[in-house]
Amino acid sequence: MMQISNTITDLQAKLNEWKSQGQSIAFVPTMGGLHDGHLALVALAKQKADKVIVSVFVNPTQFGENEDFDQYPNTLEQDITLLEQHQVDGLFTPNTDQIYPQDLENDIVAGELGGILCGVSRPEHFDGVAQVVHRLFEIVSPDVAVFGQKDYQQLLLIMQMTTQYFPEIKVLSQPTIREEDGLAMSTRNQYLSENERAIAPYLYQALLQAKQDYLNNTTVEMLTNTAKNTLSVDFKVDYFEALDANTLKQITDNTSKIAILCAVFLGSTRLIDNIIFNKG
Ligand code: PAJ
Repeated sequence: MMQISNTITDLQAKLNEWKSQGQSIAFVPTMGGLHDGHLALVALAKQKADKVIVSVFVNPTQFGENEDFDQYPNTLEQDITLLEQHQVDGLFTPNTDQIYPQDLENDIVAGELGGILCGVSRPEHFDGVAQVVHRLFEIVSPDVAVFGQKDYQQLLLIMQMTTQYFPEIKVLSQPTIREEDGLAMSTRNQYLSENERAIAPYLYQALLQAKQDYLNNTTVEMLTNTAKNTLSVDFKVDYFEALDANTLKQITDNTSKIAILCAVFLGSTRLIDNIIFNKG
């Protein structure tokens, strides 16, 4: 039976029981609206620890004023069924007061990594992410936590935050899970109209093309310009960049892994995706 906890007290009672039995804990934070991408994180978590805790919390502090906080899909009943099917041990569904009590001192910020790429058009976003993940780690205190490469900038930022504040927690990453046509799975794909859904896979195609161009020695400037031109027929391009995958800075002679990352608007829906590969 999956234990469902709305409060920290209830969750920690269960966690303490498991921990006192010497069981290791893996943690998968989410905002719900679960799909196969989330479930791949759960599957990896199950391989890495004795007990798996998933949280579903739509974190208000990582949404900008004109963003989709109020519309964010809530599919909790279905999420519970999926998590039970995947033999998750505990689900944490806190309300905002549990995560952000009045007397909470949590001034964690995302730092330099939070100001580039998605951080340019979403200036508060990564501070909110760093803050909530810090708070959740404090509450759950897992041995392992699992995040997806789909949100690659978020993943690097959380790795940094964890090294600084929770060196005892191991952060693992799961490659992006895609639909058959290549579109990266995302809770926000639910916003797409039928027409938009048909166009959305072009994003991944542009990433694959850019990777091919890079491997064929096209310059970064050329391949990003080509991709932006192609994509701007169907999307409003926010950014399209090829960077060092470890630092998210410019590629240098020391770069071993490349990240090509992009964000676009399709109608009012913002889609992000990336592709990571060895420099070769
Ligand atoms: P959410 O968008 O629900 O994603 C939860 C986790 O699932 C993240 O680690 C994300 O990278 C991963 N994920 C989403 N789609 C994926 C896909 N197609 N393939 C692989 N992994 C995928 O990311 C958040 O929530 C929040 O910012 C959170 C970290 C929970 C903090 O509020």
